Amino acid sequence: MSLLEIKNLKVAFSVDKYSLEAIHGIDLSINEGESLGLVGESGCGKSITALSVLRLLPPNAVINSGEIFFNKKDILKMNNNDLRKIRGKKIALIPQDPMTSLNPLYTIGEQILEAVELHSEYKGEKAKEIVINALKEVQIPDAAEKYNAYPHQLSGGMRQRAIIAMALSCNSEVLIADEPTTALDVTVQAQILKLIKTIQEKHKMSLLLITHDLCVVYNTCDRIAVMYSGSIVEEAPTKELFSNPRHPYTKALLSSLTNDRIILKGQPPAITEIIDGCKFNPRCNFCTDICTEKIPELVSVGDNHQISCFNSLEIS
Ligand SMILES: Nc1ncnc2c1ncn2[C@@H]1O[C@H](COP(=O)(O)OP(=O)(O)OP(=O)(O)O)[C@@H](O)[C@H]1O
Ligand SMILES: [Mg+2]
Repeated sequence: MSLLEIKNLKVAFSVDKYSLEAIHGIDLSINEGESLGLVGESGCGKSITALSVLRLLPPNAVINSGEIFFNKKDILKMNNNDLRKIRGKKIALIPQDPMTSLNPLYTIGEQILEAVELHSEYKGEKAKEIVINALKEVQIPDAAEKYNAYPHQLSGGMRQRAIIAMALSCNSEVLIADEPTTALDVTVQAQILKLIKTIQEKHKMSLLLITHDLCVVYNTCDRIAVMYSGSIVEEAPTKELFSNPRHPYTKALLSSLTNDRIILKGQPPAITEIIDGCKFNPRCNFCTDICTEKIPELVSVGDNHQISCFNSLEIS
């Protein structure tokens, strides 16, 4: 079993007496030290998937089925005590906007120190040393001085580095980075991604990197899962996905990086929209009768390569 394993996860939202399913039974797994990119357009369910892992879903969300195993234990069945050991310790979340997880009233050093003291046997000066070393490792200049800086005194890139330092000081085993660079300048984006990759490899952490940008995952991830409207439609090792995309949606996404752009008609559906069969069928050039009648399952089309499409042979 993988270090982190999501099985048949279904998440719905209660909206005005209706239950609207946003995640339709997805499976994902990440091995120790492995990096998985989760890619898809806005609204396809990437963040809801990440928040499910940490059980930090909005109050109107309900997990209707599924299991999320971390180290063979189902996070969805854990009591609050065990859950606290997972959140921020074993599994760290690097959010899009670090201000959402940093407290503006405390210095970054104090906040990381608190996490270290809470989650390890280290206290006082020893814990502080761990924090300063982590701040150095994420290349925050003048780390000992920046220990005393408040979040608003740091740039966006430096705040993201501080969050990564928190994961480092707590020896997190999994990093979940949800669009960690979209709020940053392009040059800073590249630096932060490089840092995430370096730290992940050096400390053999597992990484779930969430983005709508395929170029971001190309250089950072071992494997990529492509999500469309609450389902995984394709999954493959990175090189294989880029050289041999098989799902019509992945092909269209990748074509945006070339001169042979495939323009998709329409927009991804809202969760209120009811689409029979494959959710991608209204936008698909390969749609046949079965696509509007049945939901395709993920099937193997090669080594570690899976797609959910009835017409995989026709479009290969
Ligand atoms: N609290 C909520 N109530 C109802 N629907 C919600 C709620 N939160 C999210 N959704 C819906 O769930 C779906 C998935 O949302 P999610 O935030 O996971 O998308 P995403 O892939 O992370 O998008 P983005 O790239 O914009 O961050 C969307 O259609 C969204 O509108
Ligand atoms: Mg999101």
